Amino acid sequence: MLSKVNYTLHTDAIKDFVIPKIDVEQQKLYVYADEADLLNLALWKCTAKQWREANINHAQKGLNIRDVASINELVVLSNMESFNVELLKRGIDKSKRYAYLSEMAQNQLTRLNAIDAEKGFRAIETTPRVKVLNNFKRMAIKNKYSIFQKIRLAYFLMRTKLLCRRARIIRFPFEIRGKEYIDLGTDLTTGVGCRLEAFSETGEKTMHFGNNVQINDYVHICSMQNVTIGNNVLIAGKVYISDNSHGSYKGDEFDTSPEIEPIKRAYYKNPVVIEDNVWIGEGVVILPGVTLGKGCIVGANSVVSKSIPPNVIAVGTPAKPIKRFNFEIQKWAKI
Ligand SMILES: CC(C)(COP(=O)(O)OP(=O)(O)OC[C@H]1O[C@@H](n2cnc3c(N)ncnc32)[C@H](O)[C@@H]1OP(=O)(O)O)[C@@H](O)C(=O)NCCC(=O)NCCS
Repeated sequence: MLSKVNYTLHTDAIKDFVIPKIDVEQQKLYVYADEADLLNLALWKCTAKQWREANINHAQKGLNIRDVASINELVVLSNMESFNVELLKRGIDKSKRYAYLSEMAQNQLTRLNAIDAEKGFRAIETTPRVKVLNNFKRMAIKNKYSIFQKIRLAYFLMRTKLLCRRARIIRFPFEIRGKEYIDLGTDLTTGVGCRLEAFSETGEKTMHFGNNVQINDYVHICSMQNVTIGNNVLIAGKVYISDNSHGSYKGDEFDTSPEIEPIKRAYYKNPVVIEDNVWIGEGVVILPGVTLGKGCIVGANSVVSKSIPPNVIAVGTPAKPIKRFNFEIQKWAKI
């Protein structure tokens, strides 16, 4: 069944087949049909042979009605197969079985089509290869790339799968240091020239991406203790995020003397957490110790030195909340 579903994905393009119009009831075709055709008749109202005769081009390519079936139809067909076995065991005659199976097929198909269950099946059963092709098609169509850009995109997609199979697309050049300390999550998208640097004193990973994170061109992220980026986070170009700095300047016992060369100063470290659904504008700097609350937005060119609560828009240097989302009226309101 699953391989059939996958095969159907490959043959998605083949939609120009016809279902012949046959009056099954009047012709009593199910009386002489074998068990496979009984199911075909109940579901599609034609036998395999009748379908082949009406779709000679497909038949010549070795395709049959089940090869071009939708995923919903294949699910229903599989249910019908088991149901038919039970009916056979109970000695139900063919015309009654046909009536039961027809009713079952129409009910289940109507239900599955209404909830668009196919969408879910496609997402779960898509093989990595089909997924890469789908990503490519989606990106190329959505963004109307030129032929040169399409070739470049295809090259990036292939290299992405070699570097990190779980990423959606990594654009090159891509600088990654300390890959063993980075969890790239799933479906990561990066722009060109991004730089990820991870260090670890404990051997544990110090940089974590969630699912479906998108970082644009020339983003630089550096971790020594912990940088965690949640799900569905969008990071614009030229953003800098770091959980560390050369030395400490808080005015306490850990302060670093300016007489020490900056590169030789002991690192100050403080974790950065970026929660789900955060959008970070172009050119933003996120400093050590900052948490960006779920759903917040950071305006372009802001420097974030203190944590930002969830569901607010923060702008400026240092970044301060200016608006908060009011969930009752579904609107942003000035603070
Ligand atoms: C943060 C942002 C979303 C706010 O949008 P908005 O709520 O529609 O903004 P408004 O125009 O209502 O501005 C509200 C106030 O914030 C100020 N402001 C807006 N963005 C600002 C920013 N990035 N820096 C400083 N101040 C900003 C406005 O001047 C305005 O000030 P005022 O009340 O004194 O007049 C938007 O300004 C922004 O920076 N977007 C990021 C764009 C970007 O980087 N895109 C990359 C694509 S991934």
